[in-house]
Amino acid sequence: MKKLMFGMCAASALMLAACGGSEDVSETDEPIVESSLSAEESAEMEAIISARQDGFKTFGRNMRAINQSLQSGSPDAAVIAEAAATIHETSMGMETWFPEGSGPESGFETEALPAIWENPEGFAEAVMNFQTAAAELDTIAASGDMEAFQTQLRATGGTCGACHDDFRVDDD
Ligand code: HEC
Repeated sequence: MKKLMFGMCAASALMLAACGGSEDVSETDEPIVESSLSAEESAEMEAIISARQDGFKTFGRNMRAINQSLQSGSPDAAVIAEAAATIHETSMGMETWFPEGSGPESGFETEALPAIWENPEGFAEAVMNFQTAAAELDTIAASGDMEAFQTQLRATGGTCGACHDDFRVDDD
C-alpha cells in the first residue's frame, strides 16, 4: 500500500500536489501509515491523540495515588480528595477525545480500537458510566466517608476496565 502510494505520487505533478506537494516524502516521515490527511490535519490528529493519552495517564496516576494512600495504613483524606477531584475534572469532556479519524487509521501510535467508531452508542455509554462514577467518587471523597469511598472506588475502577475490555487494545 505504501509503495503503491509512493508510485502514484511520483507519477505526475498532479498526484504530487494531491500528496502534499512535497517531492521528498521519506519513508521515515510521520505518520507511519499512509493517510489521506494534510500535514496540518495530521498534526492536529497527533495533538488530539497525545492530549487524550495525557488525560488517561492522569487517571492512572491519580488512581495510583489513591490506592497508595489507602494502602499506606494512614490514608490521607486530603490527598485522596484531591486525586478524586482531578479524576472527575479530567473525565469531563471525554466524549470529545475520540473524533472520527483519530484511531489507528491516523497512522499515529494509539491503543484506541476501531470499535469506538463502529459502536458509537456502546462507547458513549462506557464514557457516561465512567463520568457518572467519577463525579460520585469526587462527591464521596469530599464527604470523607472512607467506607463509602472504597466501594465507589471499586465501582469507578470497574468502569475503566469495562471500557478497556471493549475499546482499548489488549496489551497483556
Ligand atoms: C470510555 C472508555 C475508557 C474509559 C472510561 C477509561 N479508559 Fe483508559 N483508555 C481508553 C482508550 C481507548 C485508551 C487508548 C487511548 C490511545 O492510545 O489513544 C486508554 C488508555 C489508557 C491508559 C494508557 C495511556 C497512555 O497512552 O499511556 C491508561 C493508563 C488508562 N487508559 C487508564 C484509565 C483509568 C485509570 C481509567 C479510569 C479511571 C480509564 N482509563 C478509563 C479507554 C477508556
